[in-house]
Amino acid sequence: MMISLEVNGKHYRVGVNPDVPLLWVLREYLKLTGTKYGCGIGLCGSCTVHIDGKALRSCQIPLGDARGKRITTIEGLPEDHPVKRAWIEEQVPQCGYCQPGQIMQAAALLSERSNPSEDWVMKGMEGVLCRCGTYPRIKSAIRRAIGGEQKGISASSLGAGDWGSAMEKASPNRHGFSPNAWLLITPDNIVTVIVGKSEMGQGVSTSLPMIVADEIEADWKQVRVEMAPAGEEYKDPAWGMQTTGGSTSIRHMFGPLRKASAAAREMLVSAAAQTWAVPVHECEAYRGTVRHIKSGRSLTYGQLSQKAAKIPIPPNPPLKKEGQFGLIGTSMPRLDVPDKVDGSAIFGMDVFIPDMLYAAVSRPPAFGARAISHDRGAAEKVTGIRKVVDLNRRIAVCADTLDAAWKGRDALHVTWDEGAQPDLDNDNLERIFVQHLNKRGKSARTHGNVKRAMNHAVQKIEATYILPYLSHATMEPMNCTAHVREDTCEVWAPTQDQSGVLQTVKEVTGLKPEQIHVHTTYLGGGFGRRLESDFVEEAVQVSKATGKPVKLIWTREEDMQNDFYRPATCSKIEGGIDGNGRLVAWVHKLVAPSIFSRVYPQMVKGGIDPAAVEGAVDMKYEIPNIHLEYVKIDVPVPVGFWRSVGHSHNAFTMESFVDELAHAARKDPLEFRLNLLKNHPRPRRVLEVAAEKARWGKPLKKGHGRGIAQHFSFGSYVALVAEVSINEKDGTVKVHRIVCAVDCGPVINPDTITAQMEGGIIFGLSAALKERVDFARGGVESANFHNYGILSMSQTPEIEVHIVRSNAKLGGVGEPGVPPTAPSVANAVFAAAGARVRRLPMKPETVVGIIKKE
Ligand code: FES
Ligand code: FES
Repeated sequence: MMISLEVNGKHYRVGVNPDVPLLWVLREYLKLTGTKYGCGIGLCGSCTVHIDGKALRSCQIPLGDARGKRITTIEGLPEDHPVKRAWIEEQVPQCGYCQPGQIMQAAALLSERSNPSEDWVMKGMEGVLCRCGTYPRIKSAIRRAIGGEQKGISASSLGAGDWGSAMEKASPNRHGFSPNAWLLITPDNIVTVIVGKSEMGQGVSTSLPMIVADEIEADWKQVRVEMAPAGEEYKDPAWGMQTTGGSTSIRHMFGPLRKASAAAREMLVSAAAQTWAVPVHECEAYRGTVRHIKSGRSLTYGQLSQKAAKIPIPPNPPLKKEGQFGLIGTSMPRLDVPDKVDGSAIFGMDVFIPDMLYAAVSRPPAFGARAISHDRGAAEKVTGIRKVVDLNRRIAVCADTLDAAWKGRDALHVTWDEGAQPDLDNDNLERIFVQHLNKRGKSARTHGNVKRAMNHAVQKIEATYILPYLSHATMEPMNCTAHVREDTCEVWAPTQDQSGVLQTVKEVTGLKPEQIHVHTTYLGGGFGRRLESDFVEEAVQVSKATGKPVKLIWTREEDMQNDFYRPATCSKIEGGIDGNGRLVAWVHKLVAPSIFSRVYPQMVKGGIDPAAVEGAVDMKYEIPNIHLEYVKIDVPVPVGFWRSVGHSHNAFTMESFVDELAHAARKDPLEFRLNLLKNHPRPRRVLEVAAEKARWGKPLKKGHGRGIAQHFSFGSYVALVAEVSINEKDGTVKVHRIVCAVDCGPVINPDTITAQMEGGIIFGLSAALKERVDFARGGVESANFHNYGILSMSQTPEIEVHIVRSNAKLGGVGEPGVPPTAPSVANAVFAAAGARVRRLPMKPETVVGIIKKE
């Protein structure tokens, strides 16, 4: 049956089952991919469209119900719509995946009332989730759109000019001056920077080109950006792998990119000097041209590109000096933002290949479970099914359409055995973790004599902290498109690990690396989940079995129940305080699963997983006697890297316990910390700045409390002061304000640092207040946003970020905002209500229980 639809003013007739949600018709049939899938149950808002002017969730509307209605998607919202403009001017998007839904929701709300109050609009935005934590900027953009302000970043300051996109307009001409893998200057005067790192919201597709453009002295308006293919030349020089993670993109690429760009600049200058037959020292590079100072002649980089290509690459080109930078250190608008605002950004989910099929996979409900039986015949009878493919422990169904693939998968009716540990549930897991505290572990750090120091301490306190497994919950669920042919394989994937993808494809297909082509799309969030290639492996296997291009999309439920989770941990810490209130002994026993044992076993030395103990093993506090012991625990729950990795749990445990010690010693928590950091000026400074900006020590409203925490991770120091109040009846923690001070060394793009701190704090706050993976019957019970909550707009506090400038080594910014968040809030809860939170998340029922007990 054909159904007529009106979308963005155009009329379509589609032959699709009327039960299929409008979301999938828009995306997979009409290819209007700005409308995103996030949950499929009406809870995330990523799929929001306007139907007859109202913002509605397209995943909840069967196609049949949309018949005869006026539908508008992000692509149909005018480019100069005040909400779209405000989104660009406030630089809202990070990964960008949720943004079309945010914009459509905001635009509908603003059209409902001529003079809406900010509060009313914010309430209306509540159901649209953002995993990257762009809520503060969404608020600012809405304020701007309501106020009609047009100041701030102007369209013309964007690199690509107008409202266009530097990401879309790379030169079609591939012949030009390309002295290294990252740079191409073509006669049309376009400077294309090829970015070997994945863009997952951290702004790397702007910051890395800024480094290149600055050192080569390009005009920012001539710069275009391309994502690199997988290849030797794009491997991270420090890691020997093409991988994006560990907040290292700028840290590892700053030096190599500058050197390569400086060499290119010198070659362009030499080419100009040759052209004019003048000495090189009479010529200088200036904003995309080389000038001959004496005569005033100049040539553009495009004009010089052919000649420069013939000049030998200088091995030691002079680098720009401090003070000569034009772009580095400035808040350049992000080049990926326009695409993410108008819905044209291509995420993995948005890839279409001619003649492609869709795959869906039936997965075991319990860890280690195997299929006992399934009804292959029933699946094959579903209209549109092409093939049923056996994968290791899973069964895939391949079909002409996505809905046919899902129907075929359901028709398999797989019976699974009970798996590796059928009695695994929340209670059992916690019991196993706590029991491991009685086991002897490996010493990760020891100095002084803790036993003697404890014996002499006048006060000894001890506490146990328990943290849950966490899901990455990227807004874009795992997906991949693959096309395996006899002698080549192409993969389109939102991946953080092109080297891992290459290796996976090699193993599945037997092809050589040069026969494999990896296209990295935008990532709808990464946070470490996309360092894994499990979703790539499945797509490649199914494509190999069918000989056709195959697109595989995981549902939210599959994504949440088949994650590599942030490890749960259990820590017992003891502290000894002397007669002067000084901390003299620290004994920390940490029970945690090992990530490295699975991914890089060679990194596990002496039984110590470096990811498990990071942040604890290099704690900066000057304590004369320290012992850190690591107890590895093995349970069937797979674990992986999650934004800030081991720092995420160790910072909570340590900074909460330091607070406990400060109170036990009757010292101010800030002073107590500063006294333990006498020889560490950088953490002292961030603590002082955060405290001063948060008015530490000044009176607060009744019932409010302030908490402080600091942590060093990924080369950066971050201190936070949180202000909270608690509803003592129901235990709800309200976080009002978080003040952040960060020292990440030299600053490339201050606005990106601020955005990453905001996002990291919201990510950390989400974990502190809401997140926990639940287990039952040997598998994961949490399935979607109804039982794995993430932070929403109304729970987001005011966040203030202060960048503390220093000339120290470059630090990362993607992760360091996360670790100190939970302890700053927990310490504020103690200050407000005297309740010491020693387990996360701070569910209201837990907090109220502690208040009653204490
Ligand atoms: S609300 Fe529709 S996909 Fe989440
Ligand atoms: S920008 Fe909202 S989920 Fe990434």
